[in-house]
Amino acid sequence: MEVGNLRFLTALDISENMLGGEIPNSLGDCVALVSLRIGDNSFHGSIPQSIKSLRGIEELDLSHNNFSGEIPQFLEVFRFLKVLNLSYNNFEGMLPREGVFENATTTSIIGNAKLCGGLPEFQLPKCISGSSKSRKVHHVLRLSAFVICGLLVISLVLAILYLSWCKKQVPELVSSSIDVLCPNISYGTILKATNGFSSTNLVGVGSFGSVYKGVLEDNGTNVAVKVLHLVGRGALKSFIVECEVLRNIRHRNLLKIMTVCSGVDYQGNDFKAIVYDFMDNGSLEQWLHPNATPSHENEPPKKVNFIERINIATSVAFALDYLHHQCHNPIIHCDLKPSNVPLDAHMVAHVGDFGLAKFPLGSSLDTIANHMSSMGLRGTIGYALPEYAMGCEVLREGDVYSFGVLLLEMFTGLSPTNDRFKDNMTLHNFVAMVNVVEWVFMPYVQKLEGAFS
Ligand SMILES: *[C@@H]1O[C@H](CO)[C@@H](O)[C@H](O)[C@H]1NC(C)=O
Ligand SMILES: *[C@@H]1O[C@H](CO)[C@@H](O)[C@H](O)[C@H]1NC(C)=O
Ligand SMILES: *[C@@H]1O[C@H](CO)[C@@H](O)[C@H](O)[C@H]1NC(C)=O
Repeated sequence: MEVGNLRFLTALDISENMLGGEIPNSLGDCVALVSLRIGDNSFHGSIPQSIKSLRGIEELDLSHNNFSGEIPQFLEVFRFLKVLNLSYNNFEGMLPREGVFENATTTSIIGNAKLCGGLPEFQLPKCISGSSKSRKVHHVLRLSAFVICGLLVISLVLAILYLSWCKKQVPELVSSSIDVLCPNISYGTILKATNGFSSTNLVGVGSFGSVYKGVLEDNGTNVAVKVLHLVGRGALKSFIVECEVLRNIRHRNLLKIMTVCSGVDYQGNDFKAIVYDFMDNGSLEQWLHPNATPSHENEPPKKVNFIERINIATSVAFALDYLHHQCHNPIIHCDLKPSNVPLDAHMVAHVGDFGLAKFPLGSSLDTIANHMSSMGLRGTIGYALPEYAMGCEVLREGDVYSFGVLLLEMFTGLSPTNDRFKDNMTLHNFVAMVNVVEWVFMPYVQKLEGAFS
């Protein structure tokens, strides 16, 4: 029963023993499990519902036991499950057909005499519903089958009509709005604006692209240009997602997109770039850790005072609230961290970099972008919700977690990836341990004292 206390257990192999009894419900608490092998024992009972929380599992071997009951449907939606061995048990009922059950070489169900259905590769008998079937029942069944067929045909026709209507609507919606909000700009213009992508204009390198400072020739406005590294996997997707997100939002604490460039460069390679308002004061990262970020010119070391920190934190909170609750299609940012919080000339924060953003499940844009942004990528170590690493779906709470880390970082000056945070010591534990009031406020108190004396 105590196995549930092993929260970080990733593999459990107790196969080929003489263990019996049922699988304890508490096993569902081992949410980090990747491999569970309990084959060749004498376990019985059904697979408990609590197993549903083992979303990160890749290998599940229950073979050669005496398990019974139906095969739970939730195994179908385990995205990472690659090997499933249920062979030589007493399972009964219908074999699911999706997810891991699509592959008869990696899913093994032999030696379960009472199973039916599934894909033809499993060579199981068809499922028969009901047991006593008189002629009359047959007749009724045939009649209702007839009616159902009729209804199906009608709904099929309706569905085809609807789909062809959608096809006409959707691409138009996406492309035209991007064009309207982000009129195209040529490769040549960007090349000139960034001084030929010169290294002196380079202000940062992100997950999918490099960001350059530039000046548009026709009106002299300062811009930031993110040039996507199209060779890397996911860059193109992140470009599409970012356009999709940015065209849907408008808020004073979010980075404004000016235009996009989508075309070919002079060598004929695909070229994609996003042009933003230039933020004079760089990113919050540079202000929090001025020594870690090399500065190009001989600028004086940057300092951000307590009131500014509070204003920045409030602005980021407003931006998140807007993304999560106020805008028409809620958005989850998924990569909130100081380097994605640029500051304008007045030190006002504008949250940016939506390359990993997702729409919450169930929203109307859910399918468009979520399947585009790469599945494995969900933010940055130290800021991302730890459960994301275990296959948890994206949640608003994930952004709130990152925001919490950001706050702790802003007021302690320590990054969550600081060398001192090892083993069990995290930024969060550290803040919980030290006297925060003293740590955060002492410098200010000392300064005040200095001013008065
Ligand atoms: C397996 O379980 C069934 C009941 O589900 C029981 O009748 C049978 O005796 C069990 N077999 C073994 C080998 O324990
Ligand atoms: C089943 O999985 C194996 C091993 O991962 C793979 O080689 C094979 O192509 C898969 N078959 C199907 C039909 O997906
Ligand atoms: C499942 O287990 C059985 C019996 O232990 C074994 O013969 C078979 O190869 C296994 N199948 C897979 C796909 O691992």
